[in-house]
Amino acid sequence: MAELKVLISRQDVAKRVAELGEQITKDFAGQSVIFVGVLKGAAIFLADLARQVQLDSTFDFIGVSSYGNRPSPANELRSGWDSTGEVRLLKDVDQSIKEKNIILVEDILDTGLTMTYLKKMLLARQPRSLKVAALLDKPSRRKLPLEGDYVGFKIPDEFVVGYGLDYAEKYRNLPDICVVPRE
Ligand code: IMP
Ligand code: MG
Repeated sequence: MAELKVLISRQDVAKRVAELGEQITKDFAGQSVIFVGVLKGAAIFLADLARQVQLDSTFDFIGVSSYGNRPSPANELRSGWDSTGEVRLLKDVDQSIKEKNIILVEDILDTGLTMTYLKKMLLARQPRSLKVAALLDKPSRRKLPLEGDYVGFKIPDEFVVGYGLDYAEKYRNLPDICVVPRE
């Protein structure tokens, strides 16, 4: 594969994550929050974000897989992937979220289908509040009108890896966010 190019450096990521953490700390002053990470891409972002938030907090995780015929990695890279929007829950949260402040943590908002589904499912359980924190956002790919509440960076329609994001399960451990060339 061609060489990966750094899009957002680890220093810029750290700075922005600290800003998001500060904002969350202010917005929920005096309250507690539950960070709910969407496996696996959000694991690294959640770990860093939670350490920048000075509030009583706990972690939980949710695992999903999308229905539809996922293209080969090469085709997903070329033209992205529009799933059916129907999401199968592989792992639910471990606790009741009723009356709790939930911060759903995702690596990237793309078509918005996954997040829209998850928000609807969790809102039905009547949390006190439900916010979406996403490290990255590709607004030009959106199919459903979804906005993140705490967004790290808006990026163009490029396929990115690193800091939790994968290409065919690889590169999640890269410290910088890099673009995979599409040629
Ligand atoms: P969507 O918003 O429902 O289309 O799906 C978002 C999910 O697609 C993310 O959680 C990622 O797993 C995956 N995804 C979208 N764009 C990228 C990318 O550029 N790199 C890696 N994964 C991506
Ligand atoms: Mg993925």
